[in-house]
Amino acid sequence: MKSILVTGGCGFIGSHTVLALLQAGFNVCVIDNLYNSSYESLKRVQKLAGKKTDFHQIDLRDKEKLKSLFDQSRFDAVVHFAGLKAVGESMEKPLLYYSNNVYGTINLCEVMKGAGVFDIVFSSSATVYGNPERSPISEDQRLGAVNPYGQTKLIIEEMLRDLHRSDPQWNTALLRYFNPVGAHKSGEIGEDPNGIPNNLMPFVSQVAVGKLDELKVFGNDYPTRDGTGIRDYIHVSDLANGHLKALKKLAENPGIVTYNLGTGKGATVLEVIHAFEQASNVKIPYKIAPRRPGDAAVTYADSAKAEKELGWKAERDLETMCRDAWNWQSKNPQGYDS
Ligand code: NAD
Ligand code: UFG
Repeated sequence: MKSILVTGGCGFIGSHTVLALLQAGFNVCVIDNLYNSSYESLKRVQKLAGKKTDFHQIDLRDKEKLKSLFDQSRFDAVVHFAGLKAVGESMEKPLLYYSNNVYGTINLCEVMKGAGVFDIVFSSSATVYGNPERSPISEDQRLGAVNPYGQTKLIIEEMLRDLHRSDPQWNTALLRYFNPVGAHKSGEIGEDPNGIPNNLMPFVSQVAVGKLDELKVFGNDYPTRDGTGIRDYIHVSDLANGHLKALKKLAENPGIVTYNLGTGKGATVLEVIHAFEQASNVKIPYKIAPRRPGDAAVTYADSAKAEKELGWKAERDLETMCRDAWNWQSKNPQGYDS
């Protein structure tokens, strides 16, 4: 049985992936500093799986603690989610983002190397395509970040490429997620953002549950079918499965590999609102607001490479994403504090 270390395993995508790993028979150890999550998510994951995980509250920047964990335990691979992800906050506090995301990952890789662990799956993002030239976006499209958060993802990708060049023992999967949404079908785990959500789906769910009054639709004058922005929303449980496939790939010693994880289909903001209304049977009040600076009109993935090389394909549609997001939000109106 393989042992996997999951960094950031109490967070949104991490918790769903830990559940998928446990259900697939892996031993899992989670580290998280709980900066943007709570241990409650992991408690619920263990209950759903009927299986325990190891948990250590460790900050990736604390190299001594990280090293002593690797001294005590043997891991076959690391799935690395831990990072800060709020674009706006990264523009206000760039050093926090470089320190947390880049320095944290440097520490992790140094400790892994010292312990002889060379397999890593890294949470990258469609943000590395900046304002993309065209969609669907394939992995070879030009890269460029338009904010410090995106810069940290680009820098880490480049660092992991350099690491592999310096020592081919490293096997690395760079997974570029598109727009992760939804929740586990049980409604026990889901997305629980701090404060007012920046992202569309949690904002819509909080309007539906009555926590927020009204959604602002950022721009209806984009060159799209209804004038609102198009994104590739992907169910978090499909994303979790992508990590299992990536781990399987790493066992074949592929060196460094990069995959887009998306559905390949774009939905407009208005389509998301209407799908959510159908799924929840709740009317979502919204008004049209100016465009949000920095937003692209259209981004969706070409995920053919992941399908061909990983045997992975997103299975859940927008209706399922909205239904599961609503199930989670209505059962847990205050998130994990409910
Ligand atoms: P999240 O905030 O829910 O989870 C990240 C977890 O990492 C949190 O539990 C947080 O407490 C922890 N963490 C942060 N810094 C840490 C540190 N220094 N040491 C230890 N733990 C730390 O976010 P998420 O949505 O689950 O995202 C997971 C990863 O996927 C992130 O790296 C994010 O950048 C990336 N990603 C997310 C999205 C998205 O829209 N959700 C899209 C693309 C990529
Ligand atoms: N939107 C609104 N109103 C809102 C929030 C969003 O109209 O209150 C619109 C946006 O303008 C955009 C779409 O909904 O057209 C999606 O916006 P999100 O903020 O949910 O997602 P983004 O595509 O802007 O960005 C997200 C993450 C990034 C990540 C990217 C790709 O925030 O960090 O997905 O993975 F890089």
